[in-house]
Amino acid sequence: MAPIVVGIILVVVAVVLALVVVRARRAKNAFARWPGAIVAGLLALVVGLVGVIDLAGVYRLNAAHGNPVSDVRLSASAGQLARGEHLAHLCASCHSTTGNLPLDGGRASLLSSPGNSGLGTLYAPNLTPGGPLKDWSNGEIIRAIREGVDKNGHALIIMPSEGFHEMSDADVQAIVAYLRSQPAVDRSTPPRDLNLIGTMLIGAGLFPTAAQAPIAGPVAPPPAGPTAAHGQYLVAISGCRTCHGADLAGGSANGGPPPGPNLTLIVPKWTATQFVTTIRTGTDPNGYSLRPDMMPWKEFSAAYSDEELAAIYAYLHGLRPIEHPPR
Ligand code: HEC
Ligand code: HEC
Repeated sequence: MAPIVVGIILVVVAVVLALVVVRARRAKNAFARWPGAIVAGLLALVVGLVGVIDLAGVYRLNAAHGNPVSDVRLSASAGQLARGEHLAHLCASCHSTTGNLPLDGGRASLLSSPGNSGLGTLYAPNLTPGGPLKDWSNGEIIRAIREGVDKNGHALIIMPSEGFHEMSDADVQAIVAYLRSQPAVDRSTPPRDLNLIGTMLIGAGLFPTAAQAPIAGPVAPPPAGPTAAHGQYLVAISGCRTCHGADLAGGSANGGPPPGPNLTLIVPKWTATQFVTTIRTGTDPNGYSLRPDMMPWKEFSAAYSDEELAAIYAYLHGLRPIEHPPR
């Protein structure tokens, strides 16, 4: 049943229960006046609360955000397409059946696992010209990437727009040019379908949507070269914080994204070569093999040149170590 229908039914049931309480308080029978009224009252409260939180989630997912759409023309030059193809690997861990290009849509629901319905069904859509984007303008796609709302301005979820929000105009335009240039793969993914728990988590604000503030002015590219400033930009747009935490000092194991370890204590102990080798081979300086389903090192290796990895290293190496009790 659709969450909006469930929400309305629950609120109606809560109102009926509240009316029962009012009637019971006037009853001659002492049992109906006291225990009966208390039980009905508590039920009304719980059912009403569940219904209202669910409806708040329905509202958050369906309210239109007023983020403006820019009018963008793309040169689709060889240089722009090459840059876009490079960066499109950042999308492949979710938007591809193979973990590689083309971006033909996710292979599995990101909200459930085999044998566990989780929070519902959510596939990362097909981003080739065979999917829905053929009907979107360049500006609408750019807005979806950096501001986390769909063609109609409704919030996306799971899509890591919080990090993409920092992406320069040149980089996001290169990605869109590349998306348009892919072979059209004719594959459709199931529509988004959150269950009651998923909608309630959104309604309660415990599961933030991807929607971001509008981007008003031009966004300049970061300084190039293997500098910490360049690395800071790449760490932001790579979504490292989604898993490794806002301060990169370790993510939390709350059932959300895979909890990454504390990079502020690990990377400063490594040399630049050790860091680059870890991302290129998936094996760290201790000989530990990173799980590719947890840490998308293959996608990052494909996305970044040695110079870009050196920039990421320069930034991470310079971070102040943050000691945290395990979260
Ligand atoms: C962590 C997984 C993840 C990554 C990485 C990711 N996306 Fe998404 N993206 C999603 C999901 C899930 C949706 C659907 C969200 C929804 O329907 O609420 C989505 C939706 C979109 C949409 C809207 C498409 C539509 O038909 O509604 C666009 C455009 C998009 N992503 C582009 C990108 C691009 C470009 C990249 C890489 C730069 C990227 N995404 C990286 C998970 C991801
Ligand atoms: C989807 C979640 C996710 C994202 C995104 C992510 N990581 Fe990770 N990362 C992990 C997890 C989980 C591990 C631990 C993997 C394991 O134990 O097999 C890890 C491990 C690592 C390690 C190895 C630590 C060690 O001691 O061996 C490094 C370095 C690292 N990540 C850096 C990064 C950087 C830099 C980025 C962004 C460019 C990033 N990660 C993005 C989840 C993520």
